[in-house]
Amino acid sequence: MWDKIQELEAKRSALALGGGEKRIQKHKAQGKLTARERINHLLDAESFIETDVFVKHRCHDLGMAETEAPGEGVVTGYGTIDGRLVYVASQDFTVLGGSLGEAHAAKICKVMDLAVRNGAPMICINDSGGARIQEGVDALNGYGNIFYRNTLASGVIPQISVIMGPCAGGAVYSPALTDFVFMTASTSQMFITGPQVIKAVTGEDVTMENLGGASVHNTISGVAHFLAQTDEECLAQVRRLVSFIPGNNLDPAPSILTEEQQVMPSEALLNIIPVEPNRGYDTREVIANVVDDGDFMEVQPFYAENMVVGFARLNGSPVGIVANQPKVTAGSLDINASDKAARFVRFCDCFSIPLVTFVDTPGYLPGVGQEYGGVIRHGAKLLYAYSEATVPKVTVIVRKAYGGAYLAMCSRSLGADVVLAYPTAEIAVMGPDGAANILFKDDIAAAENPHKFRQQKIREYREKFANPYVAAGRGMVDDVIDPRHTRRALINALSMSATKRESRPAKKHGNIPL
Ligand code: HXC
Repeated sequence: MWDKIQELEAKRSALALGGGEKRIQKHKAQGKLTARERINHLLDAESFIETDVFVKHRCHDLGMAETEAPGEGVVTGYGTIDGRLVYVASQDFTVLGGSLGEAHAAKICKVMDLAVRNGAPMICINDSGGARIQEGVDALNGYGNIFYRNTLASGVIPQISVIMGPCAGGAVYSPALTDFVFMTASTSQMFITGPQVIKAVTGEDVTMENLGGASVHNTISGVAHFLAQTDEECLAQVRRLVSFIPGNNLDPAPSILTEEQQVMPSEALLNIIPVEPNRGYDTREVIANVVDDGDFMEVQPFYAENMVVGFARLNGSPVGIVANQPKVTAGSLDINASDKAARFVRFCDCFSIPLVTFVDTPGYLPGVGQEYGGVIRHGAKLLYAYSEATVPKVTVIVRKAYGGAYLAMCSRSLGADVVLAYPTAEIAVMGPDGAANILFKDDIAAAENPHKFRQQKIREYREKFANPYVAAGRGMVDDVIDPRHTRRALINALSMSATKRESRPAKKHGNIPL
């Protein structure tokens, strides 16, 4: 028996070394952790249970019959984060460049199936040269099997992709199908076609980093949601995200009530929000003064910065926050902001996380570029996402709420359960300047002093329409509140709507404008 056990231990030790010491040294010289070290950083200590360590490929082509691929280039299994079950797959670049063949894909699919069956998040750490060239169509089929599972699992369990190396070609579509994509600076890249192919086809010269590095996908393309400087920082970010979200679509999000949460008035809010409608401020300061311990995990902080979205807690329970950012393009809505917020709203709705919306927007961003880019189609996503969401929805109108943007930011008509407004709120079809120009165009032109006359009309319009009381008078705003009491008002509203049940007509699925 001892011989057999020693043989088992020897096999395990050899497999744990992946592609061997030399390749591990090369890998670590780039500042990267190994596949197993990544899992150890991600999960609670000693919690990882590995699956399929002995799996082997069955490819005989192009020298593969003699090629050992320890663990098939991916470490799979399950463990816990803060005591809660998660499933994980971590590609091992030291084994054939982490390339994905038939058996590699089957290992990932097995843990994905377990994750869905047992209702726990699936976290996939990507570091791979893509489809294993020697395995041809079997490798492609393996990717297809993963994409199919990504899609079926969408909205059932949270799916998280962590990009910590190359991720090229069709391989990028598994992360793209998941809920959140993390990337590490300098060591991760995602692209459909690499620099060489681009050079050959379009003549453009671009480096891998400038084409698909973490900065590109966090600021320009919006493909990624989080950016970290190192593997360690990235995995800590993943742990933090998991603390806000439930294991599946039937479980509640984890509540953390460490001590009696304060509901004292926040005087700071009075100084953050300027009374002057044209002065900017940082909406993140408002959020920090309202949520538990000022703790806000922003999602896509570097993309479409005119919209702020992220997770926080109110009285211990997770909430999704959506807020216009008045310090960037005055908080106007545009294509990217609409896409960003709509996707976030849909995630929260899938996983029973209530939505809190802070509104301060002058409207949709005007411009030929926006119209040509399809702001109609993209803006509609936000209307659709909020209307479709059946989680508790609480809206705070801080200052400007004009036109279609007022409606799109979770208005009463889109199903908000509670709408609150500050006394500084301006809710109308358009801002006073624009309204005066249109309504009194001829009178302004004919006036003795057009400038003075126009200013007077703007003032009149502001006094009559640009305030919260017209909407409150119609019941579209439930209450006008002192900003200092926002936290208490939100906690009350969320506690009132915690048992919300809203059913819709049965259908296969809706058809969100894409
Ligand atoms: C098999 C691969 C491989 C692959 C890398 N390797 N990619 N083996 N299939 N796709 C192997 C290398 O032969 C090498 O083996 C080891 O992994 C490390 O690779 P290096 O090239 O030495 O590493 P590095 O210099 O860091 O370059 C990494 C790289 C490069 C940029 C990823 O390897 C590369 O360009 N690979 C090919 C990428 C690609 O075109 N993949 C197909 C994408 S299309 P040894 O034995 O020397 O250690 C795709 C389609 C998916 O994936 C479709 C889904 C629908």
